[in-house]
Amino acid sequence: MRVLAIESSCDETAAAIVQLDGYVLSDVVHSQIDLHAPYGGIVPEIAARDHVRKVTGVIRRALADASLSLVDLDGIAVTNRPGLVGALLVGVQTAKGLAWAAGKPLIGVDHLVGHLVSPFLVREGQQPDAPRFPFVGLLVSGGHTALYRCDGPMTAQIHELGATRDDAVGEAFDKVAKLLGLGYPGGPAIDRLAARGQADRADFDPRMPMAGSSEFSFSGIKSAMARRVSKHPPKDEQALADLCAAFQRAVTRTLVRKTIRAARTVALDTVVVAGGVAANRELRERMQRACTKHSLSLHIPPIRSCTDNAAMIAYAGAVALASGARDDLSLGPSPRTTLPRVTRKGHGKR
Ligand code: KG4
Ligand code: ZN
Repeated sequence: MRVLAIESSCDETAAAIVQLDGYVLSDVVHSQIDLHAPYGGIVPEIAARDHVRKVTGVIRRALADASLSLVDLDGIAVTNRPGLVGALLVGVQTAKGLAWAAGKPLIGVDHLVGHLVSPFLVREGQQPDAPRFPFVGLLVSGGHTALYRCDGPMTAQIHELGATRDDAVGEAFDKVAKLLGLGYPGGPAIDRLAARGQADRADFDPRMPMAGSSEFSFSGIKSAMARRVSKHPPKDEQALADLCAAFQRAVTRTLVRKTIRAARTVALDTVVVAGGVAANRELRERMQRACTKHSLSLHIPPIRSCTDNAAMIAYAGAVALASGARDDLSLGPSPRTTLPRVTRKGHGKR
């Protein structure tokens, strides 16, 4: 089974073709970062307009890279939630047009489910590293931060254990980078600088809230950083790198502690880390050390599969189509995930 997927939930226009066994036949990502960078964040209107311009070319390339045409496909998958509605709409309408014209089954995919199944992707020249269900999944991206119990690859088999009460962790990286004058997106910039810094030298070691729970909060550390920078702005490049290292240490320690705690609480021995922030080198290293120490099997996909892509959507779509699920041409976009939430923004546990 070969499924073509379209992803346009945020600032990447992406298309990919993936087999039911996770093998990636093609994976094309067009990033809009340069368009949004001058604004220090994503401008929804600009995102939607650029998806319109780029989506057809990106799909053509995904088909050409796989040496396939539409008739060779077994289905069309598309991210229809959560995300910017105007951006999602472009992918959804394009997918509906293709499915209708080519007479192929259509399936809408929840972007968060796509991230959580991303370790099942197998790319050319790479050994499969598929986790076994059930596992604890830490999803860390620009829009979402949560821990899940995943009993299978379908939406109904994924249960939130706890999520952020305020900012997503990627958002915290981006906002802190902005106030340090590092540009957008902030995660990769902080990652690079932190590697040259020493956290202990920065005298910035904030306590992270809710140590004993699976919920997160990142607004406190962001405000602490804003206060620190306005009182004592870093005096040179080294001080800036040290401050980035201290911020990144605090955040990655929290993510690792909460993940290990959750795995022990629900008595599961497999951990998956997914989403754009899973590209962070310190998070990958710390998580690996902690999982080894606690005899947990860790699966973090290669960076290309962590940041937004359509291959993960194609895989999630293939699994859903294989189970008999279908959507019709009334499929629409939604800003909200279908995964049931236990943490309410700004409130905590339901
Ligand atoms: O999953 P993703 O590509 O898009 C969303 O679904 O949100 O995640 C994007 C987020 C951004 O906030 C970006 O700053 C962050 O992932 N990010 C990183 C790194 N690479 C990307 N954060 C920390 N370290 C990185 N190396
Ligand atoms: Zn994402």
